[in-house]
Amino acid sequence: MNRPLGITVHRHIMDDQRLHPEATGDLTGLLNELIVAGKTISAEVNMAGLADILGQSGHTNIQGETVQKLDDYANTTIKRRLAGCGYICAMASEEDADMIEVPAGTAGKYTIAFDPLDGSSNIDVNVSVGTIFSVHRRRSASGMGEEADLLQIGRDQVAAGYIIYGSSTMLVFSTGNGVHGFTLDPSVGEFFLSHPNIRIPERSRYFSINEGNYRYWPENTRRYVEYLKDKDKESGRPYSARYIGSLVADFHRNLIVGGIFLYPLDNKNPAKPSGKLRLLYEAAPLAFLVKQAGGRAIDGEGHDILDIVPTELHQRVPLIIGSRQDVDTAEKFLAG
Ligand code: AHG
Ligand code: MN
Ligand code: MN
Repeated sequence: MNRPLGITVHRHIMDDQRLHPEATGDLTGLLNELIVAGKTISAEVNMAGLADILGQSGHTNIQGETVQKLDDYANTTIKRRLAGCGYICAMASEEDADMIEVPAGTAGKYTIAFDPLDGSSNIDVNVSVGTIFSVHRRRSASGMGEEADLLQIGRDQVAAGYIIYGSSTMLVFSTGNGVHGFTLDPSVGEFFLSHPNIRIPERSRYFSINEGNYRYWPENTRRYVEYLKDKDKESGRPYSARYIGSLVADFHRNLIVGGIFLYPLDNKNPAKPSGKLRLLYEAAPLAFLVKQAGGRAIDGEGHDILDIVPTELHQRVPLIIGSRQDVDTAEKFLAG
């Protein structure tokens, strides 16, 4: 069978690098390390049922959540790959309470924040999970990175993306020049360009929200969801409900076919007054991608996600993200 020629992700990254004559190749190097980490995690996820890595690791993380074995595996894989690579000066991971330092003498010019495995609750039931990453240029002059190098607004990201371990493994990322999707051909071990220049439909017919929290939402959120369920042919309502419980999977579907995802404020858990999702390694990277694809991301409190200044590594933020016209409508409801 003569395989399609196919543009590999490495070819795509090099073509992208050529657009920046001043490039040193460090971002290319960093992305290549992330690609190898993604392939390694994909191999493990795809045989999770066989290896003894299903189930819980027996400990909880800074978020107070039970850590799955695959969370640990993914986290360790990424940290080991990136530690001495020389392209980064500091890391932040959902699974590590504090900033992760790099070995002395290896500090580079970027920082990375990542969710090593998003959608962990779905691992044991064979539902898509993913890795999310966000890259900034360091702000401190040199030496070991500081927390301030990680606490930067999403608008200043240099690159952001995710790897989704689903029916196929896909890498979707942007370096500010559009959003591009690559599908892993496991028999060759390469990611091939399968979704060039992804654009999210302006308006959609799908909404993603955990309706189990209905009673804990503010009144305006309930009104918006009721609006989506009303019958109105002209605006394509009622919308269809699609909620997977893996942010990466819900986001990816909405990016491809259109949709709006909401994890709004709720008063269910007083310890989480700002919603469940984390700004640095969930909301901000996906907000960067959706904007590059023509969509929007807001917090429902009057802020674009990309403008929120982080004050701590694991801060949570309400997230309303997806098709531009749908987010515009949601914004009006949530503003009351
Ligand atoms: P993680 O597995 O990295 O902790 O993230 C899980 C998040 C996100 O993937 C998903 O959208 C959300 O949790 C689902 O939360 P609920 O189960 O409360 O709906
Ligand atoms: Mn997550
Ligand atoms: Mn996670």
